[in-house]
Amino acid sequence: MKLNRVGFVGWRGMVGSVLLQRMIEEDDFSLIEQPVFYTTSQTGQPGPDIGREIQPLQEAFDLESLASLDVIVTCQGGDYTAEAHAKLRQQGWNGYWIDAASSLRMSADSTIILDPVNMPVIEQGLANGQKDFIGGNCTVSLMVMALDGLLNSDLGNADLVEWISVATYQAISGGGARQMRELVEQMGVVNRAASDLVKNPASSILDIDKAVIDAIRSDQLPTGEIGVPLAGNLLPWIDKDLDSGSSREEWKGAVETNKILGREAKPIPIESTCIRVGTMRCHSQSFTIKLKKDLPLDEIEQILEQGNDWVTLVENTREASLAKLTPASVSGTLTIPVGRVRKLNLGARYISAFTVGDQLLWGAAEPLRRMLRILDHSSL
Ligand code: HSE
Repeated sequence: MKLNRVGFVGWRGMVGSVLLQRMIEEDDFSLIEQPVFYTTSQTGQPGPDIGREIQPLQEAFDLESLASLDVIVTCQGGDYTAEAHAKLRQQGWNGYWIDAASSLRMSADSTIILDPVNMPVIEQGLANGQKDFIGGNCTVSLMVMALDGLLNSDLGNADLVEWISVATYQAISGGGARQMRELVEQMGVVNRAASDLVKNPASSILDIDKAVIDAIRSDQLPTGEIGVPLAGNLLPWIDKDLDSGSSREEWKGAVETNKILGREAKPIPIESTCIRVGTMRCHSQSFTIKLKKDLPLDEIEQILEQGNDWVTLVENTREASLAKLTPASVSGTLTIPVGRVRKLNLGARYISAFTVGDQLLWGAAEPLRRMLRILDHSSL
């Protein structure tokens, strides 16, 4: 289809800003006849600089204006989706809704978009007349990108995975921009509490440790956004308590993965423990995988590496792992390194793997901008 009028809501937030940045880098706006930018608070103000003239900001709940769009791309969040999407559909709007929020992900009428992995599922959704295309949970998308080769059928490797157990190490960006700022503030408080001792070579390490833990536990540490200390700490719970022993983030790991892969009828069992750590925007994940076949290690590595164009295999050595398989090296890139691949002593069909990915890129913004190209039939 021709992308005539495409509306953007929530473009000023963190995911929205990354989306705009990527769309400018990839010249995506040249595909759109008329991009229209929306706001919940600054109607009539100038829109973002996208290198061409655009009309002033429109009101994000102006249903008449929204209904004139062919496509709405929103990073505004679940509350906006719940309200605006429902009203627009009720009044018969039949355009495409591309969304970063989770509200519509598991709806039977939506497709979760992660085209390097599930282009056939997206094409099937389009062919079935689906109009809601939703980005996956960041952790899930990054896991599926990393394990694409083993999970996916397009290489003829269908059904290689019997089950996956994963421990995540998730960055604070998953909690939003304000939590990122607070983490940096927390780091500062901790640093200041111990810096005199650290600078003094004669000081005792136990005194340094005490100064740090006292600062972490003190009411000097700002916790208004995150709720608890994260600097010098980790949090073994992310998102809501489902009262089943699992968090909502852990539940998503299984249901979204199988929906992305189009195998809800024959789901791969996936169990997660999701953990927040003090990194900024890269989620890391440690997998234990039981394969259905006993494959040689070099074949497993090759299958992983061929999964998609963004996966890179990191040699399972100390040097390569510390250089290439860390949030510090991956942040801000689209690369999905997979490493620590080895056979486990648990048995011939058990392997481990570790991955790191930028949760704002493949985990959030990238699938959305690529969906615009898919609608337009442009090259990806
Ligand atoms: N729920 C994710 C997290 C973020 O908290 O890290 C976005 O999917």
